[in-house]
Amino acid sequence: MDTNVNRAAAPATPLVAIRNLQLEASTARGTAHILRGIDLDIGRGRILGVVGESGSGKSSLASCLLRLLPANISRVGGSVAFDGTELLQLSDAEMASWRGRRVAMIFQDPMTALNPLFTVATHLVDVLRRRYPEISRQDALQRARDALVSVGIADAQLRLAAYPHQLSGGMRQRVMIAMALLVEPDLLVADEPTTALDATVEAQIVDLLEALRRKFSGSIVFISHHLGLVAQLCDDLCVMYGGTVVETGPVAEVLARPRHPYTRALLECELEDDAHEGRLKSIPGEVQDPVKPMTACVFAPRCEHAQAQCLAGVPQPSDVGAGHRATCFRLEEIR
Ligand SMILES: Nc1ncnc2c1ncn2[C@@H]1O[C@H](COP(=O)(O)OP(=O)(O)OP(=O)(O)O)[C@@H](O)[C@H]1O
Ligand SMILES: [Mg+2]
Repeated sequence: MDTNVNRAAAPATPLVAIRNLQLEASTARGTAHILRGIDLDIGRGRILGVVGESGSGKSSLASCLLRLLPANISRVGGSVAFDGTELLQLSDAEMASWRGRRVAMIFQDPMTALNPLFTVATHLVDVLRRRYPEISRQDALQRARDALVSVGIADAQLRLAAYPHQLSGGMRQRVMIAMALLVEPDLLVADEPTTALDATVEAQIVDLLEALRRKFSGSIVFISHHLGLVAQLCDDLCVMYGGTVVETGPVAEVLARPRHPYTRALLECELEDDAHEGRLKSIPGEVQDPVKPMTACVFAPRCEHAQAQCLAGVPQPSDVGAGHRATCFRLEEIR
């Protein structure tokens, strides 16, 4: 496992500082508390891995960073300060322009970002024209071709004329990565970019992302179910549960000394998963229902260490050293 020893500590001023971020939605069952007060920094030039079970709020966090929120969102509270600009205060027009310049997204399913009616060339040229309105068509096409080559598409000239459905899943994912990189964003958000791919193609895309991280100077948020992948690619780690951040810190530090019982359980699942060749051991119990208000530690109902205090109040994040923070009442006792 690559422990990223050279990238042990994040620089002082983060690119993005998220404070007490809350996201609520109106549903037929009542208000869903999707994010319940997230505090998180995204370091400059660093790759932050976000892990957690399905429903923990990873994609919702990503949608706040791009401010691409579903229609039923009823409240967004707290602060997302991006290089000093409060994203939650920008107008829709300012935010749309921000998305084309400062932040870009790679989705799990490339078809969400690709229009089936347009060729690959049209997609790439369109991104460039929005980013650099003065660019000539000739230059844009040349840069589009170069971008395809840089994501490992050898027959770039041919692929420029292709429509998305004429490409394989892995190829579509490469095109989407090329589109995101043409924006030259300060922040690239990748939401499970390899989950829909088969294992061989997944490995190729991971290799590509590893190669790109050496060229790309911006920060990356990499959302994944796969802790092993995060350990390989990322500098920092954020573990989410029930719309909260339960543990954060440099990835090598958190994986070597996980402090939150949920992180420990996730790591055990991953190890067991390897040992049983794909049969996933899961953590007993169900994830927090977002409609339930938070009056206690969100993980307490599933935590083997839970005691009365864990059910009586909501824990706050504590510093446990080396940029490592965990949100648990019993950090001292369960070392
Ligand atoms: N627009 C919405 N309205 C109501 N509930 C929502 C909405 N969006 C998300 N949720 C709920 O919020 C929780 C977090 O969802 P989210 O998609 O962010 O999780 P996730 O960690 O990305 O999961 P996955 O790993 O399955 O992608 C889930 O319980 C989900 O059902
Ligand atoms: Mg998701």
